[in-house]
Amino acid sequence: MFAVYASAPNPNDPLASLVVGERDTPEPPPGWVSVSVRAASLNMHDLWTLRGVGIKPERFPMILGCDGAGVLADGTEVVLHSVIGDPEFSGDETLDPKRSLLTEVHQGSFADTIVVPRRNVLPKPASMTFAEAACMGTAWLTAYRMLFVKSGLRPGQTMLVQGASGGVSTALIQLGVTAGFRVWVTGRSEEKRAVATSLGAHATFESGARLPERVDAVFETVGKATWSHTMRSLKPGGTVVISGATSGDASPAELQRLFFLQLNVVGATMGTRDELVDLLRLCELTGIRPHIGAELPFEQAGQGLRAMLDGEVHGKIVLSR
Ligand SMILES: NC(=O)c1ccc[n+]([C@@H]2O[C@H](COP(=O)([O-])OP(=O)(O)OC[C@H]3O[C@@H](n4cnc5c(N)ncnc54)[C@H](OP(=O)(O)O)[C@@H]3O)[C@@H](O)[C@H]2O)c1
Repeated sequence: MFAVYASAPNPNDPLASLVVGERDTPEPPPGWVSVSVRAASLNMHDLWTLRGVGIKPERFPMILGCDGAGVLADGTEVVLHSVIGDPEFSGDETLDPKRSLLTEVHQGSFADTIVVPRRNVLPKPASMTFAEAACMGTAWLTAYRMLFVKSGLRPGQTMLVQGASGGVSTALIQLGVTAGFRVWVTGRSEEKRAVATSLGAHATFESGARLPERVDAVFETVGKATWSHTMRSLKPGGTVVISGATSGDASPAELQRLFFLQLNVVGATMGTRDELVDLLRLCELTGIRPHIGAELPFEQAGQGLRAMLDGEVHGKIVLSR
């Protein structure tokens, strides 16, 4: 079958390991289903996989793609839930020590067909396109959990999103505006801040700029480049929710500020199946849809990954057929 995959870990030149080619069509083991993929979205995780981060060398070659939407053999249209848990584990599967995300152990969605456990497919809302549904399983689910499960924010409070244009950032902005939070955003360029404004952000700022007042919560995926600003931007008792460290994690922890202002640092990774059900219902009820900056054929996955590597994203990049 057609597939876009990483041939080997390549820390310094990730795109050199990208292959647009053929892989064997997978057969679903008992309890798993085969999904004919219609759309899948790019995530920074795909670049980490090409670099060999978060995946053992013996797992290569690995088909990329952490999320997606498609059709079951009986014609049911589905959204993929990307967290593959241990069937013996009960409770929040993001806390299952044996859980993995698609492409860490099991092959991903940038292919004609993907196989996943039956519990990892959810009905696609009829009003949502395959491309929109393909954004839900990773960036949007992560943003949903950061905002509504981890932050403790109440409507009317002020949140800051570090980074304006990325997949998780745009999801945070759109979900935050929909939920009635006051949404402030930093972005590295005028063009990127304009993306945030177009999505309803109430104010935007240059990266590192002093804010008019301190905020109740900061949403971090950038790490080293923005961490000090994040810690300086929080009210006493405020919360930073962090789900990524794109620029690295070597900046000072700001421990004095952390204990003196009694700040909360909360980690977040992906979300549960139940949270994905709730996210899909929220999208249906409110009509909110992911901001898709580019939609490409699967064959042009390399072009999309290059844009992501160069920081040239404007919302989600989706591959579709
Ligand atoms: N824990 C999880 O479950 C989970 C799930 C999804 C993603 N993540 C992580 O979250 C991060 C973002 O993923 P993504 O898919 O949203 O990536 P993306 O679409 O490529 O977005 C990158 C974002 O990072 C910002 N950024 C990058 N470098 C920066 C720098 N040096 N200074 C300031 N801002 C910078 C960009 O802001 P501008 O708009 O200003 O350029 C942009 O908003 C990745 O590290 C990814 O691994 C984690």
